[in-house]
Order: sequence, then structure tokens, then C-alpha cells
Amino acid sequence: MVFVIKGKSIILFGPPGAGKGTQSGLISTMTGKPQVSTGDMLREAVTDGSEVGREAKSYMDRGLLVPDEIIMQLIKMRLSRDDAMGGLLFDGFPRTIPQAMALETLTDVSMVISLVVGDDEIVSRITGRRTDPETGEIYHLEYKPAPQHIRGRLLQRDDDTEDTVRNRLSTFHKQTAPLSDFYREKGILIEIDGSGDIKQVSSSIEAIIDAKSGE
Ligand code: AP5
Repeated sequence: MVFVIKGKSIILFGPPGAGKGTQSGLISTMTGKPQVSTGDMLREAVTDGSEVGREAKSYMDRGLLVPDEIIMQLIKMRLSRDDAMGGLLFDGFPRTIPQAMALETLTDVSMVISLVVGDDEIVSRITGRRTDPETGEIYHLEYKPAPQHIRGRLLQRDDDTEDTVRNRLSTFHKQTAPLSDFYREKGILIEIDGSGDIKQVSSSIEAIIDAKSGE
């Protein structure tokens, strides 16, 4: 079955640790589009202990991409929900050309916001990341410290070790970075310097969305 969304979708694109999860709430609030993170969906499947979760984990732990068929199955299920009709904010999807081409048959994409951050900065961001399991809030030991009273419950993701991050970055450069050209040729790629602090990047994103809303 094919699901077609009437509203246009937005893609938040960038290497691991670029700040997609950190900035997605702002974009979702500004555009009214629900955020869909394939990484979060896969981690939920892993926690549930489902067959999809078990298979996905074997790729995620090695910093490899989960096969396109599994990802498209998850995306189609998500697109079948009522709140997808106005378009979605995709975070961390698509990550391969076949995923991008499959998405084209399901929804129109109005813009691709690409956060550009260098590899060295990525490693320090990811190894210092901690997540609050109760709220889902993303923190960083140095760049965004959590309030003292919740520090004891923060978790570090299994794939946030330095070795796995290096593999994830290499996977990004080989398989995902070519999507920049794919969307640049369509005239919908907007590159943002993601190397500033969280507030600076948020301001750049706000300015872009404001400008686009006025077009
Ligand atoms: P996924 O969960 O999507 O991970 P990712 O793309 O590697 O991205 P991250 O979640 O690591 O980073 P982010 O950009 O959201 O950064 P964040 O805001 O947290 O995917 C995980 C795995 O699932 C993949 O490796 C793959 O195996 C699989 N997968 C997922 N989708 C797939 C798909 N479509 N196809 C195939 N496989 C798929 O920020 C990071 C840290 O930096 C935080 O601590 C934050 O506080 C800090 N920070 C953020 N912004 C700044 C800033 N401006 N300055 C300083 N610190 C900052």
C-alpha cells in the first residue's frame, strides 16, 4: 500500500551529532510538523525486543546503516497516521539515495535543512552526549549540562563510543553525504553552519524558516 501525504515535508539533514535532535523541537514548533526520527524509532524497536529491533541493533552497534527495506517499512507505517497528512519533519531520514527516491513517491519535500559540522567537533559532541530517559531531553556534559538533580538518571547511547562514532562518520560520508547533491540539484537544499553554539544555530534556523514562510 502507498501512502501519500498532502502537506509538504521538511528534512533535517546532517552528520551524526550535528544537532538534528537538539534543533528538531524548534523546527517542529515553528512549522507545526511532527518530528519523525528513524533513529528514535529504531531505538524503541530495540527496547521492545522486537525482531526488527534485534536486526537493527546489529547494524547500529557497528555504526552501519540499517537496511533500506526496514527503514521504509517504519516510514510507511508512520506516514499512515492521521497527523502525517500535513507533512512531517524527518530527522535522520533519508540517509541513502534509494531512501530519498522512495520518499519521493510518498510525500513532497519543500526544504532540506542541512547542518554542516566538521568531524572533530562531531566526536566531542557525541562522546559527551547524555539523554534524560524520562523526558527525552538531550544534554551534553560540557556544552549543555543537565540540572544537578537529574544527572544521576542520564543515559549514554550504546552507539556513542568514540570507535562507533568514527564508523558512523565514515558511513555518513560514503552513503549519506551524496544526498546533499541530490537535493541541491532540486534547488531545495539549505546549508546552515552548525558549528556555532546551540543558540546561534537555532537563530540561523529561525531566520531561514521565517524567510521561507514569507515567500
Ligand atoms: P540517529 O539516532 O539518527 O543518529 P545520528 O544521525 O547519528 O544522529 P545523532 O542522534 O547521533 O545526532 P544529532 O544530529 O541528533 O545530534 P544531537 O542533537 O543529539 O541514528 C542512529 C543509528 O540508527 C544510525 O547510526 C543507523 O544505524 C540507524 N539509522 C537511523 N536512521 C536511519 C536511516 N534512515 N537509514 C538507515 N539507518 C538508520 O546533538 C549531539 C550532542 O551535541 C548533544 O549532546 C547536544 O547537546 C550537543 N549539541 C547539539 N548542538 C550543539 C551545538 N550547536 N554546539 C555544541 N553542542 C551541541
